Amino acid sequence: MNESSIDLIFSADHQQVVFCADEPSGLKAIIAIHSTALGPALGGTRFYPYPDLSSALDDALRLSKAMSYKNSLAGLDLGGGKAVIIGDPARDKTEQLLRAYGRFVQSLGGRYITACDVGTYTTDMDVIARETSHVSARSVEHGGAGDSGGLTALGVFQGMRASAQHAWGTSSLSGVRVGVSGVGKVGRHLVDYIVADGASVVITDLDQKAVDRVRTTHPLLDVAPDTVSLLAQDLDIYAPCALGGALDDPTVAILSARIVCGGANNQLAHPDIGKALADRGILYAPDYLVNAGGVIQCENEVGGFPAQRARGMTERIFDTTLRVLELAGADGVPPVVAADRLAERRMASVGRLTAIRLPT
Ligand SMILES: NC(=O)c1ccc[n+]([C@@H]2O[C@H](COP(=O)([O-])OP(=O)(O)OC[C@H]3O[C@@H](n4cnc5c(N)ncnc54)[C@H](O)[C@@H]3O)[C@@H](O)[C@H]2O)c1
Repeated sequence: MNESSIDLIFSADHQQVVFCADEPSGLKAIIAIHSTALGPALGGTRFYPYPDLSSALDDALRLSKAMSYKNSLAGLDLGGGKAVIIGDPARDKTEQLLRAYGRFVQSLGGRYITACDVGTYTTDMDVIARETSHVSARSVEHGGAGDSGGLTALGVFQGMRASAQHAWGTSSLSGVRVGVSGVGKVGRHLVDYIVADGASVVITDLDQKAVDRVRTTHPLLDVAPDTVSLLAQDLDIYAPCALGGALDDPTVAILSARIVCGGANNQLAHPDIGKALADRGILYAPDYLVNAGGVIQCENEVGGFPAQRARGMTERIFDTTLRVLELAGADGVPPVVAADRLAERRMASVGRLTAIRLPT
């Protein structure tokens, strides 16, 4: 690691960054804790073949900060953290490596709680749970809440309804044309919700099997060959539900949709895109606001609460989205700036309460 990577740790406004190595299992991981102002730092573990240590560190720092904002906006008593395991999950993932990683998570004594992310699944969390109690997103068979795609989709649907309410004065999606790019664990459940609400839907996915699965339930759904063709259609709402960076300059320039609201993380390719969307009159529901259903499910699992509670909290994403859009209008800023402000306000006001000392 060079000097600039070390500088990054201290300049990125994080509390703690832990490097974890176990040579026999091949484990190389970084756990980044951005904030514990609201509670233990919760965020998933990304298993990814980073080209070098600096890019892995960069990702861990960026993602853990985003988790602080997501958890705060969702009203959770959780701070933000994220971990990355450097390696190819298809080749390098073993019981030994996951359990070694679990021991490092345990060593943090609950300051960090892990979950799934790109390259890790509920079955991996079951293995990690053999070494640490600070883990969520375990499978139902192992006492966890299972896959969170369904609840995440419910939150995105609520964000979409609130955006429609703000833009058109009605929360109903009846007669609205929605384009969904990526119909995996989140996108396919989102399609169920919006079709049931009366929207006309066009989907696209790189994976034909994912498209076929959706067409089994909705045989009359339109399918575009790729995202570019999907975007060329006359859409009212665009829902990016695949990977990050979906909203870049060329996409914003051709977008016909009045609303963007989808499940994908990190949709803005760079920070100025929020303003570019607002300048074109496109209402963007911030991704980390509307896709919080997954993290709500994790928090619910850790607390041992009934599933109904997580569902209720996810449905309230409707109200939070409306509040963010109203605040954005009142302050004359893009919704993403308004969402950041709300999250920061809660981190400061509620986080301050730890200054009231409790008896030991
Ligand atoms: N699963 C959750 O609970 C959750 C929670 C919060 C955020 N997210 C985010 O939502 C997004 C989707 O997550 P998921 O769990 O559904 O993942 P997934 O892997 O199950 O589904 C993603 C789908 O997108 C498709 N895809 C990838 N690149 C594409 C492209 N260029 N064009 C069209 N389709 C493409 C894939 O083939 C796949 O079917 C990710 O960005 C993820 O970080 C997921």
